[in-house]
Amino acid sequence: MRRAKITIVGAGNVGATCAHWCADAELGDIVLLDIPEAGDMPKGKALDLMQSSPIFGFDSKVLGTNDYADTKESDVVVITAGIPRKPGMSRDDLLATNAKIMTAVCQQVKATSPNAVVIVVSNPLDAMVQRAQQVTGFPPNRVIGQAGVLDTARYRTFLAMELGVSVEDISALLMGGHGDTMVPLASCTSVGGIPVTQLVKPARLAEIIDRARNGGAEIVALLKTGSAYYAPAAATAQMVEAIVRDKKRLIPCAAYCDKEYGVGGYYVGVPIVLGSGGVEKIIELELNSEERAAFQKSVDAVKSLVATMATLV
Ligand code: NAI
Ligand code: 2OP
Repeated sequence: MRRAKITIVGAGNVGATCAHWCADAELGDIVLLDIPEAGDMPKGKALDLMQSSPIFGFDSKVLGTNDYADTKESDVVVITAGIPRKPGMSRDDLLATNAKIMTAVCQQVKATSPNAVVIVVSNPLDAMVQRAQQVTGFPPNRVIGQAGVLDTARYRTFLAMELGVSVEDISALLMGGHGDTMVPLASCTSVGGIPVTQLVKPARLAEIIDRARNGGAEIVALLKTGSAYYAPAAATAQMVEAIVRDKKRLIPCAAYCDKEYGVGGYYVGVPIVLGSGGVEKIIELELNSEERAAFQKSVDAVKSLVATMATLV
């Protein structure tokens, strides 16, 4: 049986870490690509990863390259190419630079892997995934953004820390854009099946939600030279797994919503069913008036970002 072919564009922190976890989980054979200016760096990282395979016991092949010919006919393409933020920068400050990079990358992806499912990671995420769909012209269900799995993981981590329970017992869902306007849904958060509101007081829950909302900035302030990559890469690898193993995971991702939630043709974080066809279903939840207002605020922020992007490139 042919192994899945997974291309990761951008061999930096998120890209290389994602390659590591995809290889370790034997999700497929991996091509790690970066720009010619990065020199042999992707080849070096790929070889280094391959040399960990006897220790971890995986048979995935990892190839580093600067040439899109090596990525031909990939099943999944993960795009992490772009600059990350530094202290004092918001994700939106990356817009102009990363929109150009996204355009260049997606022209190549369209030509070399026309049947791939594309997962966009580069920031500002909700605008970048919209650009990726526009440039590739792929059906919107085959172009998806990674943000919700990460944001939800941060929220789950903080809740587990608060309650002193296993992260495995925390089930949660966040919606909206990847930014300060993301919308945690208390009604969809439970701990071992118990509604979180029975275990955490509202004021404390609000503080935890706020920390999750600012989870990326907290790491940027600590690292000082870039942004988070272990959890973002893990979140992305989970999406890759859902696609190559057709797992039909019900997880929050940035998906193209038209009639759904009345969004009107933008990418925004919503619960989806993710399988081999990409977004196989968008789950429409009944939101209460507070959640709906918060979601709308988030959608408005995404729309404004996309409008700014249209004036830039
Ligand atoms: P990094 O700087 O470590 O790696 C980025 C890589 O992209 C570099 O190796 C660079 O040479 C490469 N690159 C630049 N232009 C390229 C092009 N045209 N083609 C191929 N590769 C190109 O940055 P890091 O930390 O890996 O972050 C990557 C992106 O992911 C950033 O935009 C960051 O903000 C975003 N990010 C998004 C997250 C999310 O949840 N959606 C979470 C973490 C990061
Ligand atoms: C994060 O949330 C930078 O978007 C990235 O860590």
